[in-house]
Amino acid sequence: MSQPPRKILVTAALPYANGHIHIGHLVEYIQTDIWVRFQKLKGNRCVFLCADDTHGTAIMIRARQEGRSEEALIADMREAHIRDFDGFDIEFDNYGSTNSAANRALCGDVWSALRKSGLIVEQDVTQLFDVQEGTFLADRFVKGICPKCGAVDQYGDNCEKCGATYSPGDLKDPVSTLSGTKPELRSAKHLFVRIEDLHGFLEEWTQSGEHLQPEVANYLKGHFLGEPLRDWDVSRPAPYFGFEIPDSPGNFWYVWFDAPIGYMASLREWCERTGEQFDDWWPRSISPSAGEGSASVEIHHFIGKDITYFHTLFWPAMLNAARFQLPARVHIHGFLTVGGEKMSKSKGTFVRGRTYLDHLDPSFLRYYFASKLTAKLDDIDMNLDEFVSKINSDLVGKVVNLASRTAKFVQETGLSDSYPVDGGLFARAAAEGDAIAAAYDGCDYNAAMRSIMALADRANKFIDDLAPWTLRKDPNRAADVRNVCTIALNLFRQLAVYLAPVLPRLAKQAGELLNSPIQSWADAQQPIAGTAVSPFQHMLKRVEPEQVSKMIAASQEAPATAASATTVDGPAALAAEPLVAETISIDEFSKMDLRVARVVAAEDVKESNKLLRLTLSLGGDVNRNVFAGIKGVYQPETLVGRLVIVVANLAPRKMKFGMSEGMVLAAGPGGKDIYILSPDSGAVPGQRVH
Ligand code: MSP
Ligand code: ZN
Repeated sequence: MSQPPRKILVTAALPYANGHIHIGHLVEYIQTDIWVRFQKLKGNRCVFLCADDTHGTAIMIRARQEGRSEEALIADMREAHIRDFDGFDIEFDNYGSTNSAANRALCGDVWSALRKSGLIVEQDVTQLFDVQEGTFLADRFVKGICPKCGAVDQYGDNCEKCGATYSPGDLKDPVSTLSGTKPELRSAKHLFVRIEDLHGFLEEWTQSGEHLQPEVANYLKGHFLGEPLRDWDVSRPAPYFGFEIPDSPGNFWYVWFDAPIGYMASLREWCERTGEQFDDWWPRSISPSAGEGSASVEIHHFIGKDITYFHTLFWPAMLNAARFQLPARVHIHGFLTVGGEKMSKSKGTFVRGRTYLDHLDPSFLRYYFASKLTAKLDDIDMNLDEFVSKINSDLVGKVVNLASRTAKFVQETGLSDSYPVDGGLFARAAAEGDAIAAAYDGCDYNAAMRSIMALADRANKFIDDLAPWTLRKDPNRAADVRNVCTIALNLFRQLAVYLAPVLPRLAKQAGELLNSPIQSWADAQQPIAGTAVSPFQHMLKRVEPEQVSKMIAASQEAPATAASATTVDGPAALAAEPLVAETISIDEFSKMDLRVARVVAAEDVKESNKLLRLTLSLGGDVNRNVFAGIKGVYQPETLVGRLVIVVANLAPRKMKFGMSEGMVLAAGPGGKDIYILSPDSGAVPGQRVH
């Protein structure tokens, strides 16, 4: 007997609108998309929601530096995010924005509920204020000398050298990284949620064993719940890009207040589009098990471990106070590392989704991540050699091979009229369906992939033993050939059903090949017979290691100078450079604001063996701080006074040594072969290059 369909609302964390989607993000979006596709294939009602997370200081500052409105910035980013997700077959039912009318209204609802329960309190907060930029500085926008150990260049809240934590007011010689000026201490009124009032509820909810992975529950118990919870600061004074708090003019909700409410706002938009009722999908009740039995909705959040306490303490507290249904489960995953290390821009392992898609098939990454993901919080390491060999041996060598070796022999006859005797192969694999389903449902995709590949091994052994390509040579055995191929193609189809959550494209192609679309998990229970077989189309091509190395080369970013490729030496950089890049329109070109600039100061960055720090004048009193990877190639003193060309509207990058606010153009493959460009004499700083 099959169970009644479940009703499931699923979210993935809302990506920040101030950066592009990279392969680290994709661990999460692919993990969640697989889970959702699995639920839908099982016949459950499932809605998958996401949105861009658009508010906060970082976006405000970036828009300011790019000389455009926050709205323009987030609109571009949204378009890019949607395109990237689409490229990886990540299929949301709605993709919203936290900067939406729906979100503002819902934030208002939650806020009044918190006010009514008396959970909001007011306190003065003293923070560093950048007078030139007219803004309070979040800790990461301040640098100074550690009050404990005297280390220079430390952030406002903690010292990387000695590990001390302190408040920004204690930092010695603080400098704003936004303007380079000395900030002053100012205090302002902030609004806080008194989370401690909900301590008992949070203890119970987090420790019940139902909603969180055991490691997470223990972590919360050990790190937060053992002592009184600190009040949570949920407001920021103007200027701030966000929603102004209706009953506290001049104050805005902190981005982490409105972001999770964005899940609900995305649901509201989906309901408006589809005619569904919001209250059916996010009821006003405090317990996930309250009431309506099998018809009640389960809410599942998927997030990375870095945002655990927002989703397991603050968010449940807000929902509880506002009397909204709580999540049935928060699924937390670890971080992606590449080759055992943190993703790195200089090593080329900080790969954007878009760059990946320029070189490789999205199905590969979906399968590779699936094969690595478990229900645990361990970090996931992407080993590039293993990536290549896994795709080639599993997907191409085991799965696609079943079809590519046999489909052509039955293209004229179609499948046998009834399913032949196969020694119980199909039935045995069908019987494993429940275990594979349980692995998907429990987020242990690694176990699911291992079971599926074991089935693929058995299927291949069967084909190898019966060798239809040899049987074919005997004209009397045409019926046997047809039967063997019918079995092979059915076993292939069964695998395609089991892999459909991971590889939707392959499932679609399998359906087309055998003229019998894959629509449900139950399709793996019943063999098909008598259908026509379409001409075999290429399904998944082998990965060549060069595709991967080209992707890495294309992701390699040098600090501040175009040509200062860091770990790639001369000839390799040349080889990696295609003769002529993709054609762009004049409009795309003119997005780039190239300016003549004069080097007014140049100095060694002592802690770096590649960088010089350049101060560039763009005319008038406009100066820029730029790091260029030309140490050892140019002597700093020879640069002072000369003209260069700078990309003036490049998003500023925070580096270990300070902000880099542009990029000096240079030619050459890198290493010692770097040649800074200059305009002919007569050009003056500030002139635009067209
Ligand atoms: N905007 C917040 C989430 C708000 S949810 C109400 C945020 N955005 S993010 O863009 O930084 O990250 C989005 C998701 O991607 C998070 O769950 C985060 O953990 C995940 N990842 C970001 N980098 C990652 C890796 N390198 N590896 C795995 N997941 C990563 O946080
Ligand atoms: Zn220190």
